[in-house]
Amino acid sequence: MSTTEPRLLWRDITVFDGLDTLPEPMAVIVAEGRITTLVPMREFDDALAEGCQEMAQGAVMTPGLVDCHTHLVFGGSRADEFERRLEGASYEEIAQGGGGILSTVRATREASENALLEAAVPRLKALIDDGVTTLEIKSGYGLTVADELKMLRVARRLGEAFPVRVVTTLLGAHALPPEFEGDSDGYIDLVCNEMIPAAADEGLADAVDVFCETIAFSVAQCERVFQAARVHGLPIKAHAEQLSNLGGSAMAARYGALSADHIEYLDDAGVAALRDAGSTAVLLPGAFHTLRETQLPPIAALREAGVPIALATDANPGSSPLFFPTLMLNLACALFRLTPREALAGMTAHGARALGLQDLGRLREGAPADLCLWDVENPAALAYAVQPGRLRQRIFNGQLQRE
Ligand code: NIG
Ligand code: FE
Repeated sequence: MSTTEPRLLWRDITVFDGLDTLPEPMAVIVAEGRITTLVPMREFDDALAEGCQEMAQGAVMTPGLVDCHTHLVFGGSRADEFERRLEGASYEEIAQGGGGILSTVRATREASENALLEAAVPRLKALIDDGVTTLEIKSGYGLTVADELKMLRVARRLGEAFPVRVVTTLLGAHALPPEFEGDSDGYIDLVCNEMIPAAADEGLADAVDVFCETIAFSVAQCERVFQAARVHGLPIKAHAEQLSNLGGSAMAARYGALSADHIEYLDDAGVAALRDAGSTAVLLPGAFHTLRETQLPPIAALREAGVPIALATDANPGSSPLFFPTLMLNLACALFRLTPREALAGMTAHGARALGLQDLGRLREGAPADLCLWDVENPAALAYAVQPGRLRQRIFNGQLQRE
């Protein structure tokens, strides 16, 4: 029974609370799944320690990391395309030749639900071992009703089998499947009239996403998807302005998007639209790095407008085969010039916000106790070095996961 479990106590901890590093060493107490006490050490009274299990002293604690954009479930591998890109082929050229996302679609359709689950487990473990306590998993490599639902079921099963919160997103409008060649509006009909209703009926999707791009779907087609999502009460988000500026983010913002993701080509009007809608900007430095993108997302404009900036791995077999969340902190600083504080907030408080889960990603009294204790000298060091093995303790929902 949870009431008989000891309270857990950390003393003399440097706390990053999801938005900032607190100015003085803190004591943290967790009980029954929640943070019950967060006090400066100079106010700590030994009476508070009564009945507590002493966990650690003198390390860095952050909220559990929130990876708000992943494509963790997929079949096959695209290592060959990586080599082709190094020889000069572009991501768009490979996609237009039937490779890219469609090559993963073939492998994912062929795989059974169990095979997809098994393939995803080591990827999920890599994220968990680097501090993730909440992640989003998208479909988008099935592109039939049955195969999209199969992917979402795998995502749900991963959340049941591992100590992690999984949020699922239906990304039916990710690419045009070969059987709809020449009829992309017909495929969007399928997404709107069959896929979204089926996923909603089975409770398999927590949100709906689209890929709004010249190599994927137009703004008008994505808008139809959002209208269908709205009918089923599902929140929306978009892969937008990744390779060109179509205005997908601004349209998504009009539908109250949780987030617009990638956004390297976002213009001032797009930034203003995100600000006005209260949407989060999700930066994906892994895809920027892997595709050797040179167009930087409009960081200064986002900052100036006060748009919350989240960071995620975009873990996927093509544009970001990088299953290493704290590497994203480093890449966001090195490539986008985020500060380490901004990068960490992007994978905690703002990552949670991008999922509509504002109670997560924060280290404060009353919040769910999803926490990481790190062997680093200060929070910024998590972004400075790229080094596995720094997670000393991981607390999920108030339970210690590893020592
Ligand atoms: O987020 N941009 C579109 N979708 C994925 C890439 C998926 C893939 O290449 O398999 C992304 O980058
Ligand atoms: Fe993505």
